[in-house]
Amino acid sequence: DWTMASYRDEAVRKIREQVGDRKVICGLSGGVDSSVAAVLIHEAIGDQLTCVFVDHGLLRLNEADEVVTMFRDNYNIPLIHADEADLFIGALEGVSDPEVKRKTIGKLFIDVFQKYANGIEGAEFLAQGTLYPDVIESVSFSGGPSVTIKSHHNVGGLPEKMGLKLVEPLRELFKDEVRALGRELGLPAKFIGRHPFPGPGLAIRCPGEITGEKLEILRKADAVFIDQIRKHGLYDDIWQAFVAILPVRTVGVMGDGRTYDYACALRAVTSVDGMTADYYPFSHEFLGETATRIINEVKGINRCTYDITSKPPGTIEWE
Ligand code: XMP
Repeated sequence: DWTMASYRDEAVRKIREQVGDRKVICGLSGGVDSSVAAVLIHEAIGDQLTCVFVDHGLLRLNEADEVVTMFRDNYNIPLIHADEADLFIGALEGVSDPEVKRKTIGKLFIDVFQKYANGIEGAEFLAQGTLYPDVIESVSFSGGPSVTIKSHHNVGGLPEKMGLKLVEPLRELFKDEVRALGRELGLPAKFIGRHPFPGPGLAIRCPGEITGEKLEILRKADAVFIDQIRKHGLYDDIWQAFVAILPVRTVGVMGDGRTYDYACALRAVTSVDGMTADYYPFSHEFLGETATRIINEVKGINRCTYDITSKPPGTIEWE
């Protein structure tokens, strides 16, 4: 892609100019944005970059391993894997309010990130994979009061608190452009094509109180849903797809017995930039087959629903 090739050169030049021979820390989430930012910055300044991957225990099945393998093993990018699942899950005990969840995770994230970053001597910059929509969704409308629908934890606060300057090479880009840049940089297609995943992770796909048991059930159900979508060749037509585990148990029958297990909701949407979205029109066969698989393969779920809400009025995530 001609445009992205020149964007890449220009971005590399700007990063070198901004950073010089100093050190940069990059928070890696495993998502496309921070990954592309990290690879781009690594191309510009090599081992002056260290990535910190905060594993908050709210990731999908095998996600942490995939991130570590890709960066440390395939790309040779210095990476600290901060496994802090117990800390986050502990802090979320008894929390069911969506905004309190986000704030709890956001605050801990900053503390943990800071702890690991302090170990990287002489770092002066913090890199973030902030995109253009993140910038505009988090500023106030001109003149009026600040309107925030959901507080995002990937923007704000941190750099000032740590006395770090920001490096945000994707700040002018939309998601599709970030993907094009990722391809330009040679990231694996499967990785670039990955659906967006929110910073608070599975916490906001588990309405109500979060428990280890619910997270485990949710991970398995989500993996089956995504497997179904991939098997039917639909993954790339969908902006985002996931399962939410509902805070309600319902009665079912399984063999000769009665079950009393969680209900879940499947969510899949099409979108251009995440600001508006339509639910994905799966066939009834697909939905039926997927529900059967989830209920048969995932112990703890006995009922599946499909969310047919568009955005607006719904949001993509359940919280
Ligand atoms: P909503 O649910 O607001 O989501 O329609 C729009 C897009 O943003 C993602 N999202 C988040 N991403 N931190 C993030 O990094 C967050 O707190 C957060 N909340 C929502 C969501 O997955 C969708 O892609």
